[in-house]
Amino acid sequence: MKRDNDFSKPVDRHNTYCTQWDFVQDRFGEANLLPFTISDMDFATAPNIIEAMVKRTEHGVFGYSRWQHSDFLSAIQGWFKKRFNNEIQTQQIVYGPSVIYMVSQLICLWSKIGEGVVVHTPAYDAFYKTITGNQRKIRPCPLNRQDDQWVCDMAQLEKLLAEPTTRVLLLCNPHNPTGKVWSREELVLMSELCKRHDVRIISDEIHMDLCWEQAKHIPLSAITTEPYALFTSASKSFNIPALTGAYGIINDTASRDAYFNKLKVCDGLSSPAIFAVIAHIVAYTDCDDWFNQLRRYLFDNLSYLKKRLDTDLPELKWQIPESTYLAWIDISPLKIDDKALQHRLIHQEKVAIMPGDTYGDEGRGYIRFNVGCSREKLADGVDRFIRAIKSFN
Ligand SMILES: Cc1ncc(COP(=O)(O)O)c(C=O)c1O
Repeated sequence: MKRDNDFSKPVDRHNTYCTQWDFVQDRFGEANLLPFTISDMDFATAPNIIEAMVKRTEHGVFGYSRWQHSDFLSAIQGWFKKRFNNEIQTQQIVYGPSVIYMVSQLICLWSKIGEGVVVHTPAYDAFYKTITGNQRKIRPCPLNRQDDQWVCDMAQLEKLLAEPTTRVLLLCNPHNPTGKVWSREELVLMSELCKRHDVRIISDEIHMDLCWEQAKHIPLSAITTEPYALFTSASKSFNIPALTGAYGIINDTASRDAYFNKLKVCDGLSSPAIFAVIAHIVAYTDCDDWFNQLRRYLFDNLSYLKKRLDTDLPELKWQIPESTYLAWIDISPLKIDDKALQHRLIHQEKVAIMPGDTYGDEGRGYIRFNVGCSREKLADGVDRFIRAIKSFN
């Protein structure tokens, strides 16, 4: 079904129990802030998904369900072929309630308490939590900014991989919060280094569908045949994380069986959330127009942000990220203390923008600004951000 989707029409999300708007006080200490925080969007999902869910709702019976059927598996296979030209094998597909649940299980399967997990930093905050929560050691590998590119020092990475107790590289591709999209050469080199040091890769590819311009997402499944795990979801791209559902690929049989044992036997999670299963099938087979329009709108939002920052804060020299609707902005050239800025954003301008240190020490001096919203809201947020900064003059 072809429809015009008006992403510029704001949707009131108040009183929907949503984290972004209704629970902003939990994280920022004050209610009723204009939020640009956790990575979900203010947009309604694709009309075809809503239609399919309404139809299923009207059926009225919500008994136990299954995901291991050709409708779900071939929808995923088709998406990987269509978007990334990657042939995946449906028998290697696994399901889980969330990407981080799956990451957590594989960390536990592939390492012991006290052993090391390498992550590129700054890193998505849940990475730190799941590694330390499972009593594994974080081995941070800082990304460096060079000529408008985020670069991994591969010699430094190899040193970390070579540590005798390192077992896992937890990769984020594309990378949250920097938006870096890993190139084929980088992925090949990292998988060779992991093989050399007997380290397994868990690749979180939840942001895979939102790469901009020349940046091209290459799934780990297109790179290696060594044992790996790739976890992802339609939840970011189609704005459906509240449906709770994720999937992935575990290519070696023993690890896949061990994962299923944990999921189904130990944790009693054999029945998936039926709305997540339906939403994934429809998203991947019947929402291309909506998704392409969404991509254009998000990229235009990033371009809008760039124009505003170039005009009002040219010293930031901010560049649109290679992927994601999350603007990672280096505010260190402004020489304003992070905490003082947060204070003015929250208490003076009533706006919530993620402080960079949420993503670890390397995030100090940055903010992460979520542009997954109407242009009108974005403009309001950018006005407030610029006003807060100018108020230091
Ligand atoms: C890199 C990354 N992985 C995982 C998630 C969360 O996924 P889930 O809710 O399925 O665990 C996010 C959400 O922001 C993310 O940015």
